[in-house]
Amino acid sequence: MMKASFRHFGEAHRDEWALIDDRFRDYVADAPRRVLEHLHRLAGDTHGYPVDRFEHCLQTATRALRDGADEEMVVCALLHDIGDDLSPANHAEIAAGILEPFIDPLNTWMIRHHELFQGYHYRHFFGLDRHAREQFADHPAYERTVRFCDDWDQASFDPDYDTLPLEHFVPMVERVLRRAPFGGLPAICEEATAP
Ligand SMILES: [Fe+2]
Repeated sequence: MMKASFRHFGEAHRDEWALIDDRFRDYVADAPRRVLEHLHRLAGDTHGYPVDRFEHCLQTATRALRDGADEEMVVCALLHDIGDDLSPANHAEIAAGILEPFIDPLNTWMIRHHELFQGYHYRHFFGLDRHAREQFADHPAYERTVRFCDDWDQASFDPDYDTLPLEHFVPMVERVLRRAPFGGLPAICEEATAP
């Protein structure tokens, strides 16, 4: 059986769900490759910045790595802007959504809020409050988000920086995205009965 033959779930048999479950696990295991493939979509147009978003992501990850950040943080740095092409107005949510099942909730919070924190470095040019991030000063992820933006994110637009290639980070992405997701994946039952 290469694929299920049901036309709606009411017709589905256990063997069909077992097949789908098997294929789904392969699909999940291949997710790191697809995520990295998508990261390449940030290459090309710089949108006026000194470097394109792909270079920026690599440079942010390189700086985090060289500053001694742990592997999870380096992966966060690499992927934090991956949603730029899909959701320019809400890009942080894309990266947060991809990583959330696998990482420390404080790191998810950091990614989700990095744009506001990064804004400390440019919001005043747009008539906005650059200190808006201070509303989160008591949040347990405040310090790491400030460091992420001040030391790595806002600093990573240097075309002359010695940025590491993507290949350097691939094993890290694979290790983080192949962790068991929070809550796990449901497994097919050996003996299933129809309701
Ligand atoms: Fe960024």
